[in-house]
Amino acid sequence: MSRHVVVTGASSGIGAACAQAFAANGDRLSLGARRTDRLPAVVDGAFCHALDVTSADSVEAFVTAAVAANGAIDVLVNNAGLARGTEKIAEGTGEAWREMIETNLLGLLEVTRRVLPHMVENHGGHIVVIGSVAGHKAYVGGGVYCASKRALQPICEAIRMETLGQNVRVTSVDPGMVDTEFSVVRFRGDENKARGVSKGTRPLLAEDVAECVLFAANRPAHVNLDTILVMPTDQASPQMVHRTT
Ligand SMILES: NC(=O)c1ccc[n+]([C@@H]2O[C@H](COP(=O)([O-])OP(=O)(O)OC[C@H]3O[C@@H](n4cnc5c(N)ncnc54)[C@H](OP(=O)(O)O)[C@@H]3O)[C@@H](O)[C@H]2O)c1
Repeated sequence: MSRHVVVTGASSGIGAACAQAFAANGDRLSLGARRTDRLPAVVDGAFCHALDVTSADSVEAFVTAAVAANGAIDVLVNNAGLARGTEKIAEGTGEAWREMIETNLLGLLEVTRRVLPHMVENHGGHIVVIGSVAGHKAYVGGGVYCASKRALQPICEAIRMETLGQNVRVTSVDPGMVDTEFSVVRFRGDENKARGVSKGTRPLLAEDVAECVLFAANRPAHVNLDTILVMPTDQASPQMVHRTT
């Protein structure tokens, strides 16, 4: 049966690939991002709406419009997120820290708290969180980004406890290096620096991560995949990567 799947940050990378994977699976999509001009091309016929997860008003408007357009939400893919800069803690700026925490942590909470009551009311649903290997292991220059991702683990655990018996599944899909616009955003548009991140190695594709998300969502209702940590074969930890050049 066709499910209503909501994807945040669907204008690019992993979010766009998740939207396409669910669409190919026959599900109905509601897509949100700030760059709304990009959304209609992601999935033909999907409901598209502006979403800035750092604005409570924007989140409220997005969730209300998605439910009005596509009905009860069955699956939420909490994907919107970013890293900003690679400064060490002593050299960091409050601005970049706040942007990461407001987007990756508080933004995810704002979306989730508006969607969860609908799932409980409708006797079930699936919250998927796109975490990161950075949430499992810190690295130099990534302390605050890593913190914003590690913080998602207790949130997932708490939701499982708080919705126990109400058929709500919670899955964290935590990728290693993925070839998306992530590094261009992190380096504030510096394409050269961004290319350096995956130079000489073979990162995951956004589609590889989307397959993991769809796999989790397509398990029978009594099966909850807690965490999927998915890394490129050539990556052993956030900063330990095999390179041929
Ligand atoms: N690429 C990697 O190596 C990697 C590894 C592990 C985890 N991740 C995680 O994967 C997720 C997706 O990243 P990606 O790699 O696909 O990067 P990406 O290509 O830069 O995509 C990020 C998406 O998040 C959206 N977004 C950012 N801030 C937002 C906001 N305030 N409100 C709504 N949407 C927002 C962007 O849309 P707009 O700019 O249009 O709003 C975009 O669609 C992130 O949570 C990231 O932390 C990435």
